[in-house]
Amino acid sequence: MTKARILSGVQPTGNLHLGNYLGAIKNWVDFQQDFESYFCVVDLHAITVPHDPKTLAQDTKTIAALYLACGIDLEYSTIFVQSHVHAHSELAWLLNCITPLNWLERMIQYKEKARKQGDNVSVGLLDYPVLMAADILLYDADKVPVGEDQKQHLELTRDIVIRINDRFGTPEQPTIFKMPEPLILKEGARVMSLSDGTSKMSKSDPLENSRINLLDPPEVILQKIKKTKTDSIKGLTFDDPDRPECHNLLTLYGLLSKQSKENVARECENIGWGQFKPLLSEAVITSLTPIQQSYQKLMNEPDYLQKVLSQGQEKATEVAERTLTRVQDALGFLKP
Ligand code: TYM
Repeated sequence: MTKARILSGVQPTGNLHLGNYLGAIKNWVDFQQDFESYFCVVDLHAITVPHDPKTLAQDTKTIAALYLACGIDLEYSTIFVQSHVHAHSELAWLLNCITPLNWLERMIQYKEKARKQGDNVSVGLLDYPVLMAADILLYDADKVPVGEDQKQHLELTRDIVIRINDRFGTPEQPTIFKMPEPLILKEGARVMSLSDGTSKMSKSDPLENSRINLLDPPEVILQKIKKTKTDSIKGLTFDDPDRPECHNLLTLYGLLSKQSKENVARECENIGWGQFKPLLSEAVITSLTPIQQSYQKLMNEPDYLQKVLSQGQEKATEVAERTLTRVQDALGFLKP
């Protein structure tokens, strides 16, 4: 029996943080054995805001190495770099010509990022969700494991599928694209900032203390957790709308120490922050240390990483080219 497919990706911008790990990569690792999985480093997405050409290639390698260090297993999964598979940008163009502009103007992430960019908003930033749709549809992905913030982009992808299948499907071939489903888990899908429990942990937050990066050394993690925003109430509880920081930190603790919400609620109901912070620090450091060790090892073997990415490119290209040809045929292009 053939396995259902997964596709997902992370942008090589800055360091990966606990939100990226718990919202996405950890789930990729947990699900990978049950699927045929494709994980790309989405470098074409990273240039939709001003970027530094001196660091892009190195950042791309860092993310690929982190995928492996977090536990992506090449027996089940393919790791590749988005720009190494040309079909991504080519399919994005075809989809561009079918996607209404006002669908893109509605995207929340676009509006937020555009506000930050001021006068410097690129066409690429607006078009970003179409490129994301191309990433997903090229692999006929059944499931797309992501954090909550990507949900609207996946809905757009689904709308594009409906539109194309409606317009270009024929009685012989009614579906050009397979309909992908988001895979968003309840816990970890929206990890919040350590400085403000009402905003998302984000790579672009100017406050470094607002996030824990996967490669932060233990002393930095201890410092960041010491400084994290809390409140003055003793007894820690989930789901209190007046205590968003408390909910976030308990959730992080539960996910990283692999304990159920009920266990964490029981353990923490009578303790204060002074007792809780060392517990959380230990859970974070214990989870990240093996990832950091494995990452260092991989970065000392550049030939290995190179080989992984080149095999990934080959495998991904084969699948992606087949889909691209199918779409070109459906749209009526002259064969070369
Ligand atoms: P990116 O690089 O911003 O984030 C990568 C993944 O991390 C998740 N994430 C979070 N999850 C929980 N809490 C947070 N605070 C948090 N911050 C980020 C994101 O939801 C994402 O899953 N457009 C995508 C990359 C992309 C993609 C794709 C994903 C491009 N093509 C195709 C899936 C399929 C992005 O910018 O993710």
